[in-house]
Amino acid sequence: MGCRQTKETPCVTEITEFDPLTDNGVTTIPSVDPRLPLNARQVFKLKQSWKGIKRKIAETGVEMFVRLFKSNADLMAIFDKVTNIESEDELRQNEYLEQHATLVMTTLDEAITKIDDYDHVKNHLNRTGATHQRFDVFRSENFRKIREPFIEAVKITLGDRYTDYMANVYEITIDFILKALEDGFLDNNNPVEQKIIVTDHSTEQPEVTKIEHCRVNDVTNKEQAKT
Ligand code: HEM
Repeated sequence: MGCRQTKETPCVTEITEFDPLTDNGVTTIPSVDPRLPLNARQVFKLKQSWKGIKRKIAETGVEMFVRLFKSNADLMAIFDKVTNIESEDELRQNEYLEQHATLVMTTLDEAITKIDDYDHVKNHLNRTGATHQRFDVFRSENFRKIREPFIEAVKITLGDRYTDYMANVYEITIDFILKALEDGFLDNNNPVEQKIIVTDHSTEQPEVTKIEHCRVNDVTNKEQAKT
């Protein structure tokens, strides 16, 4: 496949523009799941843009949490390993925070890179939301509190690439993601570690059904994040 070369952009093999026209002149606009709040062009642009975040995933994640804790210092108490923090620098250098931020970003990565697969993404987010049920003090609204920190962190990482168009796309996307996390957290039927055992009394040998924990997926995600 050839590539379009403009004065501004060098010739690269990667497709960076959304172009619904095929070589035969037949217009094919990729369809997206109608349950997704993004259209095909927005999905395409989001995936392209996210590559820039992926390259700086840990930094973006730390920036997001630093901003979250700056505006909601009380939330730090939920993280038992983030203690004795007296300055922003200490927070930025906290190893545990970096690990955790990367874990959260990995979930966002899974959602964004597979955004076309509505059912997979919704399920994954619902499960991740449900894992937060194990914290007594956690409230569903806590997910919302990460909205602005996320937007700000993405904006910093992308710099000039964070256009008005992308701002709108990221806002729609994070709202969709946070809603799915919240739904999972609020849904009592969702599997969490404390609820993994289901005993079927209809058989002689009680059958134990294990419901997988979201860490299983995180291993795959980490591999994908490296590419
Ligand atoms: C975009 C929003 C968020 C995502 C995608 C997310 C995702 C995750 C994931 C994947 C884990 C690891 C899996 C687990 O331990 O079950 C986790 C753990 C955790 N999350 Fe979240 N989370 C989000 C927001 C929050 C917020 C806003 C808080 C608190 C203010 C929070 C508190 C925690 C805590 C305390 C843990 C456990 C850490 C540990 O075990 O050391 N999360 N989160």
